[in-house]
Amino acid sequence: MNSKLIAPSMLAADFGNMQRDVEMVNNSEADWFHIDVMDGHFVPNISYGMPVIQAIKKHATKPLDVHLMIEKPERYIEEFAKVGADIITVHYESTVHLHRTLTQIEDTGCKAGVVLNLTTPISVLEDILPKCYMVLLMSINPGFGGQKFEDITYNRIKKLRRMIDEQGLNTKIEIDGGVTDKNIKQLVDAGADVFVAGSHVFKSNYPTDTIKQLKQIANS
Ligand code: DX5
Ligand code: ZN
Repeated sequence: MNSKLIAPSMLAADFGNMQRDVEMVNNSEADWFHIDVMDGHFVPNISYGMPVIQAIKKHATKPLDVHLMIEKPERYIEEFAKVGADIITVHYESTVHLHRTLTQIEDTGCKAGVVLNLTTPISVLEDILPKCYMVLLMSINPGFGGQKFEDITYNRIKKLRRMIDEQGLNTKIEIDGGVTDKNIKQLVDAGADVFVAGSHVFKSNYPTDTIKQLKQIANS
């Protein structure tokens, strides 16, 4: 069973050939599209917003996993749902009333998740976990693709996996930042379920084969 999922990050796609790159993901063994939204405030970079997501949605045949790196994401949840998000994750550090924001996401019909920055303690998730379809652990400082994976992530995954098991939940653990064919197996062994990969996929010569390889290693 292929229970481990691959979510190519469209941040690393060629924006001048977006339809081509969306079709590549459609025709690959990837499971989701990972969509990074950055506002230049929460993170020191600006990526893209609703019109681009809408354009991706028009061609995508797989779910859109929308990662909001924006301050006060509660202001835009309905709009992201309207342009085609299937899963919406918000940073713990970006919203004061996290429980309310997740409810807002659920009310749109999307699946809701929480993201933790690299060193935000796993323990902050204890009470919100039953409401999370997924928890995304950043394995880099968010804002840019192509950064080096931080090894502290392995222990963080183990801690979170323990917490999920203790609560008897099915919450998925997603890892984002610096994922490659070299570390994905160790991430699976630590207890992760979903793997975002940007530059490793799109900067490779044969992205479809690279996705296939990641999927194979993750599920081996
Ligand atoms: C960074 C984003 C990531 C990024 C990952 O803030 O959240 O999704 O695209 O890119 P790579 O796989 O190149 O580290
Ligand atoms: Zn991301």
